Formats: sequence, C-alpha cells, structure tokens
Amino acid sequence: MSCPALPDGFDFTDPDIYQQRVPLPEFALMRETSPVWWNAQRHGVAGFDDDGYWVVTRHADVKAVSTNPEVFSSNTNTAIIRFNETITRDQIDVQKLILLNMDPPEHTRLRQIVQRGFTPRSIRALENALRERATRIVADATSGGTGNFVTDIASELPLQAIAELIGVPQGDRAKLFDWSNKMASYDDPELAITEEVGAESAMELISYAMNMAAARKECPAHDIVTRLVAAEDEGNLTSDEFGFFVLVLTVAGNETTRNAITHGMHAFLTHPEQWGLFKATRPPTAADEIVRWATPIVSFQRTATRDTELGGAAIKEGDRVGVFYSSANYDPRVFDRPDVFDITRDPNPHLGFGGGGPHFCLGASLARVEINLIFNAIADAAPDIRLVGDEPRRLRSAWINGVKEMRVRYA
Ligand code: HEM
Repeated sequence: MSCPALPDGFDFTDPDIYQQRVPLPEFALMRETSPVWWNAQRHGVAGFDDDGYWVVTRHADVKAVSTNPEVFSSNTNTAIIRFNETITRDQIDVQKLILLNMDPPEHTRLRQIVQRGFTPRSIRALENALRERATRIVADATSGGTGNFVTDIASELPLQAIAELIGVPQGDRAKLFDWSNKMASYDDPELAITEEVGAESAMELISYAMNMAAARKECPAHDIVTRLVAAEDEGNLTSDEFGFFVLVLTVAGNETTRNAITHGMHAFLTHPEQWGLFKATRPPTAADEIVRWATPIVSFQRTATRDTELGGAAIKEGDRVGVFYSSANYDPRVFDRPDVFDITRDPNPHLGFGGGGPHFCLGASLARVEINLIFNAIADAAPDIRLVGDEPRRLRSAWINGVKEMRVRYA
C-alpha cells in the first residue's frame, strides 16, 4: 500500500532519518490519514527478508496491540531494528530466552519471578544508594567546567543503578559497563562496534551473571540475586534464566534511561521557563513528561498470530506490526497540546514505557527514580548549566531515540 502524502520510499525504520530527527511530522500525517499503514520499504536494516510491516501510530491502537498478546505475539522479534536473531552462540537462541520476546504463559511465569526484584521496597532501598551516586556523578562532571553531558552524567547513573540492583561488586563494574556499551548502538558505524563484538559482550555478560547466580546458590547473601535464584524447587530462577534476565536489564535499562536524561536536559535548556519551574518546585510529574517528550524507544514490534483488523486495516497472520510509541505520545486525541513540554502535565498517560500490556516496562519505577534524582542533583549543583557549541549529535538508530554528544557548560 502506498501513501501518496509521504515522499516515495519513506521508511519509518530508516536509521538515516533518525540520525537527523524523529519523524514527528510524518507520524502526525499518518495518525490523521492512515493510522495503521503498510510500510513496504526497509532501508539499511539487516536481518529482515520480509516485504514490509505495519506502522501503528495512534495512541489507542498502540495500546490495543500491546494489550492483546494472543493476537499480537512477541515471540518472533520485538525490536523492529536490531536485537535480532543474529546473537547466537553454542546453539543458544538468545532471542527466545529473554523476557521481552516471550508470550504468556511462559512470559507470565518468568515475569512473576523477576518482579520480586522490583518491589517498591527494593526500589526505595536502591534510592538511597543512587542519591549518593547521582550527587557524586554531578559533582565530578561540574568540576570540569564544560563537557559532554551524555558521557559525563547521563550514561553513568543507569549503569550504576543496574549494578546496584543486581549487586555487582565495585571491582567488576568497569567490566559490566564495557560489555553494556559494546552491546548497545551497533547500528551506528561511528561507534565502530561490530555485531560480532556486541554478541561476544552479550555472552560474556550472560556468563558473568550465571556465575554470580551459581555463587549465591552456594553461599546466599541478603540481596536480590539470592532472592531470585534462592530455591529452584520453589519455582525461582535457574542460573541460566538469571543470566538472560541480566542481559535484558542491561539492554532495556541502560540506553533508554541515558537518553531520557539527555533529552530531558535538552528540553529543560531549550525551555528555560520549565527549568526555572523545576528548580523552584521540583514537581514529581517531571519524570513522566520527560519520558513522553523524549520517548527513548521509538517502537517495538509484534507479529500477528492470525488474520485480524486494526484501525480499519486488514492484518494478515504472520505480518509484522510496529507500535510507534514516538507517535502515540504526541497524539492530540489524548494529550492536550502535545507539542508543549510541560513538566506539570497530569494525568500523563504516555506510552514511553510501553502500551500497558504484559510487557509494560519492568523498570519504570526505577527509571522515574533515576530521572528525578539526577535532575535534582543537577538543579542543586549546577543550576546555571547551559548548552554550548553545536547541536547535540544524534545516534544513527531507528529503535533508540539517542544522542551521542551534547556539549554543556556546567556553571
Ligand atoms: C520493557 C521503555 C527503563 C527494564 C520496556 C518496554 C519499553 C521500555 C517501551 C517494552 C514495553 C512493551 O513491549 O510493551 C523504557 C524506558 C526507560 C526504561 C523509556 C527509561 C526511561 C528501564 C529500566 C529497567 C527496564 C531502568 C531495569 C533496570 C525493562 C524490562 C522490560 C522492559 C526488563 C521487559 C519487560 C517484559 O518483557 O516483561 N521498557 N524502559 N527498563 N524494560 Fe524498560
């Protein structure tokens, strides 16, 4: 199906477009003219031999897909772009073993177990440790005068949060951070990380986590790993499952939060009245508006398990269906003045953490805490922070709405 209003050959998964901008005007056009649209093109996307995919752009339709796993399965490949079936080693198909790519009832069983690591109590316990971290990260960055906000501040806290969560000792953290960074963003040639290196790092991370789990079984401690793997016969995680879970946490919790923080800072600095308001009132609603505004994950993908209908479109069994959170979060049917960055927006039913189904972001509360802590620390220690130099440099990725470099002066 062609869309006469779009330039010929336009592809919503073309990473070259996202290196310049998120195609918000094109999403707006789709929402109004062809809300569920068959995009027959794919540019620069390796690992796909199909002839197209559905682009779902309205808030209500993204929710409808996300909350109906029976018809829209996660089992084939949830990321439209990468994170595909290429990470295989020793006959292990990573794809099928991770939470994001499971369907109920398998997903339900695993999710119930891992959720135990994300209780309000464990997040509260983490919050104190992370507050200290956030203060230190900002103090270190600001002592330099100017710098790259992405590497100085935004990258640090999410990695520390995951390390704290799973109890990685200080001495091993540099290793964990190195693997995480190598697994991420390898769509961007400038980062010079090959798929091979990404896969290798994933395997190293998994095996590190498996060893950690095995050690806790031998010698239990008072931490989340112990709680998750304590007793297999009580239906807890096996060491293997724990290994893959840590992989998901690292992939899902790292770049997402980093980019929420970077885009959030950019939004504040280009909307100085909102930064002033934040400094004066510190509203708890700010974190969700930042996630809506930034929408760090552009889309996820499902596969239709049977012929069905959505938003007037006839979807066939086996079709790939892309749910575009970046579009849903600017849908004027749901958000009053969606193009306005308003940190007091409430309610804010954004879909930045997913469309509300069984895969809804497990780390949403933790991400909110991290965003809150870091902006509070910046407001305290670097209230006059400002942008300097060129426009932020964007990541070449159609899946992550990412920034590689954003130059700032801290005082
Ligand atoms: C799933 C976004 C932070 C762990 C997801 C999904 C999205 C998302 C869109 C998929 C939802 C779906 O398919 O319906 C984000 C954003 C974040 C963030 C925007 C930061 C601003 C985190 C953090 C963690 C985390 C900090 C953990 C440390 C997960 C996990 C899943 C997930 C484990 C898979 C859940 C499942 O399949 O059941 N996230 N996330 N995320 N996220 Fe997050």
